Amino acid sequence: MSSGADQQSSDGYFTHKGILFNSKVNVESLKNIENLAVKEDDVFVATYPRSGTTWTEEILCLIYNGGDVEKVKTTPIYTRIPYLEYQYFPEGQTEYDRFLELPSPRLGKTHLPYNMLPRQLQEGRGKLICVARNPKDVAVSYFYFHGINRSFRTPDSWDSFLSDFMAGNVVGGSIFNHVLGYWAHRSNPSLLFIKYEDMQKDLHGTVRKLADFVGRKLPSTTIDKIAEHCSFRSMSKNPMTNYSKHPEQRCRFDTTNSEFIRKGIVGDWKNHFTDIQNEAFNKVLEEKLSGTGLEYDFDI
Ligand code: A3P
Repeated sequence: MSSGADQQSSDGYFTHKGILFNSKVNVESLKNIENLAVKEDDVFVATYPRSGTTWTEEILCLIYNGGDVEKVKTTPIYTRIPYLEYQYFPEGQTEYDRFLELPSPRLGKTHLPYNMLPRQLQEGRGKLICVARNPKDVAVSYFYFHGINRSFRTPDSWDSFLSDFMAGNVVGGSIFNHVLGYWAHRSNPSLLFIKYEDMQKDLHGTVRKLADFVGRKLPSTTIDKIAEHCSFRSMSKNPMTNYSKHPEQRCRFDTTNSEFIRKGIVGDWKNHFTDIQNEAFNKVLEEKLSGTGLEYDFDI
């Protein structure tokens, strides 16, 4: 971590502007990102972790290359699209710097809250895609992810993790504040707000929507090809999307107990939440979302 963080723990966790980050986030990059000179054809995928980021990234890569599935099989997704605030190795290049070196059109990924995005992006330059997922399934998926990612704290238990998640005491902060930050700007023409559950219901339609949003007209047969390549079955087996092969990822991830692309369903929360946990969660949901117009599918 560089200087400038508000607090730092021995495991490298730190807070910046009230949000908790893990040691792989570079504080200098956080500042640089805000000042980024955004190009009109830049596209950013912004999500709360475990909301369908990788899925959307893979779709976008294919939209941009006209549906060439062979081409995306040559490079891992995390190499194709830099994770703006990250720096995988202290001695290595920041992902922010890597983003700067990309040829246009540049694609970037971030888990930052809306108010920490590049200012020019917030002002409408470039394009922003926000993917939101129902927070109960995110909680479950994020819990398993903590067991995989070695730069994350191992939760004491599912129950303690869920309490921290509801309170926003996890990396990335409160999912509710995060998503509402984006939701508030959903009518901005440079922002596309999509839901993981809608991707599940109609992948073809979502690919079409994404392609239209970034100004790429694709024939229906190409959309079908992209949807097929981006099915859970295909992406979970694909070493370029499932984070299984890259040497950097091998030392960062431990997939002994769970996979990065794990289950890919809507409603897995029902297999994990007790009635008491569900009641407490619903109370927080009601407090946070009431009057915002934001609704989720918890089952499809
Ligand atoms: P689960 O842990 O519930 O399976 P992110 O990329 O933002 O980290 O999100 C990861 C979640 O998206 C994981 O959820 C993963 O399985 C799911 N996912 C990734 N690719 C998917 C696909 N093609 N279809 C459905 N879900 C997918």
